[in-house]
Amino acid sequence: MENSWQNHEVNILVVDDDEGIVEILDDYLRELGYRVVCAANGVEALERLDEKDFDLLLTDINMPKMNGMELVERIKTREKAPTTIMITAYASIQSAVDALKCGVYDYLTKPFVLDEVKNAVSRALEKHFLQRENVNLKEMMALYRASEVISSRFVFKEVLEVLFDSVAYFTQTDFIALYLDDSGGIEADSDFRLCRRKLFCRLPTADRYLLNLLPKRFPAVVAEKYFLCSSSRIFSKNDASLSGLFKDDSNRFNYESIMTFSLKANNRLTGFLVLVSLSPEIVFTDRLRRLLYMLVSKAAGAIENTRLYDNLQRQYVETVESFALALETKDSYTHGHSRQVACYAALIARKLDFSSEKLAALQQAAILHDIGKIGVSDTILNLSRPLTEGEFQEIREHPRKGRDILAPISSLATVTAVVYHHHEHWNGKGYPAGLSGFDIPLMARIIAVADAFDAMTSQRPYRLPLSLDEALAELRNGAGRQFDPELVAVFLKHKDEIELMLSNRPLSVQPSGGKNYSCPAAPSAHNLSETISCD
Ligand SMILES: [Fe+2]
Repeated sequence: MENSWQNHEVNILVVDDDEGIVEILDDYLRELGYRVVCAANGVEALERLDEKDFDLLLTDINMPKMNGMELVERIKTREKAPTTIMITAYASIQSAVDALKCGVYDYLTKPFVLDEVKNAVSRALEKHFLQRENVNLKEMMALYRASEVISSRFVFKEVLEVLFDSVAYFTQTDFIALYLDDSGGIEADSDFRLCRRKLFCRLPTADRYLLNLLPKRFPAVVAEKYFLCSSSRIFSKNDASLSGLFKDDSNRFNYESIMTFSLKANNRLTGFLVLVSLSPEIVFTDRLRRLLYMLVSKAAGAIENTRLYDNLQRQYVETVESFALALETKDSYTHGHSRQVACYAALIARKLDFSSEKLAALQQAAILHDIGKIGVSDTILNLSRPLTEGEFQEIREHPRKGRDILAPISSLATVTAVVYHHHEHWNGKGYPAGLSGFDIPLMARIIAVADAFDAMTSQRPYRLPLSLDEALAELRNGAGRQFDPELVAVFLKHKDEIELMLSNRPLSVQPSGGKNYSCPAAPSAHNLSETISCD
């Protein structure tokens, strides 16, 4: 059977304070074709191990300065620790057990015959190279899986999370910074310092100092000196020309090793990744750099895809919003309705301490809440008399149609649910799902109040608008039946603000050239993520 190390150059370190034994083993193992280095004790052995990697360590137990057990303890956490055979003059079970517990693979007892040495070395090397291949395979598989996961993601945050987790797993460092050009990349030979950067970090501690330090130091120094010269690079602390990079003015951090990767997509430089080791035990190696290169390359492609995908989704949302607003302009009676609903909804949401993200989603839902009316005939929408049951049935389809229009946009899942449920009633008698109480999404319950209030205070072809007091009385009347009573209570508490908003709204029968709309920062088709300010 072919040995798994047959094509490898095998390096063995022999450690013993008995010169006679060292000499015999040195000669014999060289005869067998191995490369042999000798040391007289543990301290010398550590020096040899610092100089080069060994596949096998043959060490005596009892030696001056540092014994064999301590030597094994000291090296077992090393990335490329050799497999160890212990040599002992005491053939006791206990010393053998202790050695094996310590991570030693096998032991030889003095005096030994050379055939025993040959067999033990052969077994140990077989295990050593099999294990190394196994580790390599496991690492490659883990990297492959991580890169596949990255490639399958279309949400930037998810790509970032998998990238950071994988890099942290393989390097054992949590000090990771990703700089991205947010304009879609620059020519590969341009100066990266000129591009518009965004910084994403994963740091060992939430330290403001680190956050401030990263953007200032690394892009400038790294880009200027080396970054543009290569796709990936390791910066060594021992390189005197890099003292500025490793110097920490605060003396709080000891930078040990820095590794960078450039991110490229479609031949454009889109960013770079910086890894910093603060621990002497974590030193970036070329092997690690080569392994991670594949992952970072995949991440660069995936990040570019998320950017393109986001652009596509944004364009779709912009188009749909434009349709929603255009739909209202066809009918002077509902002109400005969705924006007004957005303002009333925002008033309630602010009193409920909505986060800015939730507020933005609510207002987007308000703009889009009746988008399904695109699928309802103009004749029915513009009737100047109360609806028949059949016509009302067709109108009742608009939440469902709205959901179908928005369903392709995964980023609008929350908004879509609100659009679908904005005609549910607190008592379960609404449509389309007949949900009741807290089963109705909160944002849909808010929109229901805002939508009804704006409808009541707007003129229709078949009726005059209700006054403020009349409309508020209707809301009070519907609380606990049509509307969430707590939300109505919140709304009623702010009559002065509502009155101001109402007085600033465009007159419902007036065409669009009339009085200015009261929400100064209503969302334009080009700025969807901003919230509408109704102040
Ligand atoms: Fe509606």
